[in-house]
Formats: sequence, structure tokens, C-alpha cells
Amino acid sequence: MSEEMVIALGSDHAGFPLKRRMRDYMDQQGIRYIDYGCFSENSVDYPDFAHRAAVSVSSRLTRYGLLICGTGIGVSITANKVPGIRAALCCTPFMAEMARKHNDANILALGARTTSYEQAIEMLEIFLNTPFAGDRHHGRVAKIHRLTGR
Ligand code: RB5
Repeated sequence: MSEEMVIALGSDHAGFPLKRRMRDYMDQQGIRYIDYGCFSENSVDYPDFAHRAAVSVSSRLTRYGLLICGTGIGVSITANKVPGIRAALCCTPFMAEMARKHNDANILALGARTTSYEQAIEMLEIFLNTPFAGDRHHGRVAKIHRLTGR
């Protein structure tokens, strides 16, 4: 992971406890981030925070995003509406690896109610440290944006 890499964080209330623990881990590891909220377990709407973090990645203010809601579904649906975003909802380390290698995903989406802290950290580390494989996958990823216009 490069020194200048900054991660955009976003969650709703359901994702907040896991995000807080992952933020502590990132602090310990010196992984830089901008947290776009939310900041408590008070009930909020996941699109507000997923959209803010996705725009940050899309505009290249941040390199990658980490989005967390109860299942990871709502935040990934929202993020994938933002131009240039390839958000991958991952449930296993293998999915996190493939999301980077084959899909050049720029946002990792996790479900706080479906993923343990240990699994989440493993997936984050894999996501941040696995390069895009390029080659034949390049054309496929480019085609996503060509076909969808985003
Ligand atoms: C909130 O209860 C829950 O619906 C939300 O966190 C998420 O799982 C939506 O996809």
C-alpha cells in the first residue's frame, strides 16, 4: 500500500460499530482515511453516507472506499450508481482478492451483521494490498463503464 493512499469510510448506524473498530485498527497501522459518517448508532439512511464516500473516491480525493451497513447491500447499491465506482460486496477473503484482481474494485462493501471483525480486517488488508491483474480483465472493466455510461 502506498504512503499517500487515503481511504474513504462510510457507514450507517448498523455499520458504525464495525467501522469504529476498523478505524482503530487503521489508526494503529497508520492507514489514512477520511470518515464521511455516520458517527453514532442513531438511526440514519445509508445512501447519504455511501454516496458521500463514493463521490470522494470517484473524484479521486481518496483512492479506495470502505462502506459498511447491516448487510453491505444498501451501501454497495448506492455506491455503484456513482460514475467510476466499482463497489464490491465481499463476504470472504477470496472475494476481496478477486474484487481487486479481476474487477479492479475501488470500494470494499461489508455487512456488519454478516461479517466478524477478524474477517473484516482480513478482507481490508487483502483489498488494500492486491493489485489489479489487468490483461484480459482490463477490457472487461472498461466495458462496464462503456455499456452503462458510468
Ligand atoms: C439498517 O437496518 C439496514 O437496513 C441497513 O444497514 C442495510 O443493511 C441496508 O442494506
